[in-house]
Order: sequence, then C-alpha cells, then structure tokens
Amino acid sequence: MEKTFIMVKPDGVKRHLIGEVVKQYEQKGLILVAGKLMVISEELAKKHYAEHVDKPFFGELVSFITSGPVFAMVWQGNDAVVIGRKINGKTKHLEADLASIRGRFATNTAFNVVHGSDSLESAEREINLFFDESEFV
Ligand code: TYD
Ligand code: MG
Repeated sequence: MEKTFIMVKPDGVKRHLIGEVVKQYEQKGLILVAGKLMVISEELAKKHYAEHVDKPFFGELVSFITSGPVFAMVWQGNDAVVIGRKINGKTKHLEADLASIRGRFATNTAFNVVHGSDSLESAEREINLFFDESEFV
C-alpha cells in the first residue's frame, strides 16, 4: 500500500477547509494513518521545498507556508500518490480541474490550499520530514 503526504496549507486552514479536504480523501477511500495541526518552522519549510530553492517564488513560498498553522496528514491506499495529485488538482490554478480542490477553491497559484507529494520518493522524504514513526496509527 502506498502512502502520500498531504497538507492543508495556511490559506486552507484560515478558510476552514480542513474538513473539505479530509472529506475528499475519506470519500475516495484512502485511509488516514497520521495527522496533526502544526506551524512549520523556516528550517522545515526550506527542507520541504528544497527543490525550489533557486526559483523566483522560493522566498514567498517559505514565508507563506510558515505564516500560520497547517494540517499535515499521511494517507494510505492503492495508488495514493497519483490519487492525491488528482484530488488536489494541478499546480497552476487556471489548469486545475474544477472538480479538484485547487480548481474549486484557488484563484491563485501561490495560495493553493493543499500540498500533495508528487512521487513515491517525494512522499517518503516528506513523510519522514514531518512525522515520527510513533505518530502513525
Ligand atoms: P510545485 O512543487 O511546482 O507545485 P505542487 O504544489 O503542485 O507540487 O510548487 C510548489 C508550490 O510553489 C506550489 O504549490 C505553489 C508555489 N508556486 C508558486 O507560487 N508559483 C509558481 O509559479 C509555482 C510553479 C509554484
Ligand atoms: Mg511539488
């Protein structure tokens, strides 16, 4: 069974969308195996988004993701990584399917409500960054 790292970003938490995001994953049939409300440190943000360190949006991305609480989760199931990317929708808000979370709720690429791992390798890396073994149920 695959695991993927999914996170409601600070804009999603502020807009009371935790329940909406969780609902999509539950209704699809994935299983929640870890979850917590937390504030991301600058150090963790830079590790999480290390692949984007040279991008022009990196500074704003780090300041946004550390700007308030996030709801971090690990969801498990068959093809969990690809399903997570589909539930969340494409990165660019105008390309996101209107049935996806980003398509429904985002009018901006930077403030796009959710994060989801983009590959099995990313999922493993991100899960290890955010969760200890002891936090899994
Ligand atoms: P990326 O990993 O490309 O997207 P995804 O979240 O779909 O895996 O980028 C990480 C985040 O950076 C993205 O969710 C929003 C932000 N971002 C911008 O602000 N501007 C951009 O042009 C891009 C590509 C991303
Ligand atoms: Mg990404």
